[in-house]
Amino acid sequence: MKDTSANTGAKKAAGEAAAELVKSGMVVGLGTGSTVAWTIRRLGERVREEGLDFLGVATSFQAENLAIDSGIRLTSLNSHPLLDLAIDGADEVDGDLFVIKGGGAAHTREKVVSCSAKRFVIAADESKYVQKLTWPVPVEVLPFALRLVERRLVELGGRPVLRLGKMKDGPVITDNGNFVVDVSFGVIENPAALAARIDPIAGVVEHGIFDNLDELFLARAVGVERIGRKRG
Ligand code: A5P
Repeated sequence: MKDTSANTGAKKAAGEAAAELVKSGMVVGLGTGSTVAWTIRRLGERVREEGLDFLGVATSFQAENLAIDSGIRLTSLNSHPLLDLAIDGADEVDGDLFVIKGGGAAHTREKVVSCSAKRFVIAADESKYVQKLTWPVPVEVLPFALRLVERRLVELGGRPVLRLGKMKDGPVITDNGNFVVDVSFGVIENPAALAARIDPIAGVVEHGIFDNLDELFLARAVGVERIGRKRG
């Protein structure tokens, strides 16, 4: 499990800034992790203080529980398949706005939710913004297919490590009932090409490379910078 205790002030600044994008009447994807937790809490405050009236779609049990505790009304993707906005966190974002997610093992639902949204925004502290992606790529795997998927990932040049639970013996089980392998590829020169090679492996449920980010809310020492997508 990754350490989420660092950079709390910056995460709060970025997460709360992104919460200002939400307007009444919207349907909004609510991401997972310690940064977007600040977004969810701030949205709860806005519901209570301003009467903000929106519906959330949670990307995980963590997001769902926090949204309920914060007084946010939730809906499902089946009821609202087209979202106005999705807000989430990231493990790494590069200069072309390719993203690695899944440090909290929630990337499958996060990808489905972000792909259902007209606009996908990530809030992050500066430590997440890198020149080239190097974070081990989380890959959610059907348990039955683990050995095949590991072999294929090694053939792609990766070093897969089965993610183990904390306070639980054995592997992490995702919200969807699957395993996660974290796959080191060193410096990822071409994230789109790597994603295209992981996609067709039988037994892969979803990997954590995202190519659909529209805007990054990045907490810098001087304030929150908004970095928009430049590539087509
Ligand atoms: C969840 O699986 C991840 O994709 C998170 O969104 C990502 O790890 C960011 O988490 P933090 O905001 O806690 O760093």
